[in-house]
Amino acid sequence: MSENKKEIVLSGIRSTGNLHIGNYFGALKKFVAIQDDYDCNFFIADLHALTTNPSPEDLHKNVKTILAEYLAAGLDPEKSTIFIQSDVPEIAEMYLLLNMHVGIGELMRTTSFKDKARKCLGISTTDESDEDIEKQIIGTDTNKRVNAGLLTYPTLMAVDILIQKATKVPVGKDQLQHLELTRRFARRFNSFYGVDLFPEPTDFDWGCAPIKVPGLDGSGKMGKSEGNCIYLADDPKVLRKKVMRAVTDEGPQAPNSAMSEPIANLFCLLELASTPETVAQFRQAYADCSIRYGDLKKQLAEDLLAITVPIRERINDILADDDYLRKVVSRGAERARERAAATLAEVRQVMGIRKF
Ligand code: ADP
Ligand code: TRP
Repeated sequence: MSENKKEIVLSGIRSTGNLHIGNYFGALKKFVAIQDDYDCNFFIADLHALTTNPSPEDLHKNVKTILAEYLAAGLDPEKSTIFIQSDVPEIAEMYLLLNMHVGIGELMRTTSFKDKARKCLGISTTDESDEDIEKQIIGTDTNKRVNAGLLTYPTLMAVDILIQKATKVPVGKDQLQHLELTRRFARRFNSFYGVDLFPEPTDFDWGCAPIKVPGLDGSGKMGKSEGNCIYLADDPKVLRKKVMRAVTDEGPQAPNSAMSEPIANLFCLLELASTPETVAQFRQAYADCSIRYGDLKKQLAEDLLAITVPIRERINDILADDDYLRKVVSRGAERARERAAATLAEVRQVMGIRKF
């Protein structure tokens, strides 16, 4: 198949901190695996990260960190276009243009907006209705403002996708609503101007159920805001400590008993990190009540380290090589801008913006 016939895949990650093994198994490892078969575009969404007003130092540091982690985990700039969102100014211009066709109401009804607005206003998820929140948003307390960037977050994400004319967008479940809005905006734009400019993007079908990497605190998924993460960049000592502190129970009380959630979670991690033989051996030990959770955790820690240590070493090497990092992103920006500029020119023309 020739290069330009490959389907365009695009995904971005906000630069808000280090990548954890949930990001690795749930997203990054899969991105690495499809680089040969698709026209892959992976970017760091630093403009989206600005919606939470990070300090300039944090923003700068996080962009560099994620970039190094992408590369260390196996994203290959020879195969994929790897770029920083803010290096493509066409995105910002098209964001302004697309916003003219986006309703404030549909943005305000987005789940992620309501969640984030609640956070800004300092209210817990249950104690105020959507109407109360809306009242507070348009109220006068300027210390608690919900910024307009947060509201228009889905427009910016739609532009990321549409400006590259991507058709496959691998994202987590929480982003599916944004993808649905992207399709709606694409349809609306096409039909308003009577053009066929934007394809409608869909989620990437991996052909298997999505992986949910659990945390080590007994319940729920591993996530940045959960504070239960094992990071790719964790020092081996830190990683071992985190695994050894994982929540367990009092052990199986009878042969073949059902597993509690914390133990099932440990086995889930073991399945991601260890060999099938190791998993089978511990399952057998659980079934016949001879299991010692300490042994299970030690094994899990070592098997996770076998994955993360080489990545961690590469992260540190790459972080020390500013020249290489600069080269990767300037090449990525050049490629991403080429397609973005072509789409933006079409959009400007379709909307009637022209030079005299
Ligand atoms: P976080 O939840 O830590 O803020 P993000 O929302 O930035 O992580 O997720 C970036 C990508 O990593 C998404 O594609 C998401 O599906 C994947 N991901 C994040 N956490 C997990 C997890 N615990 N299990 C599987 N995939 C995950
Ligand atoms: N909103 C996504 C998240 O929080 C990140 C993102 C921004 C993105 N633009 C995108 C993902 C475009 C896929 C495609 O995870």
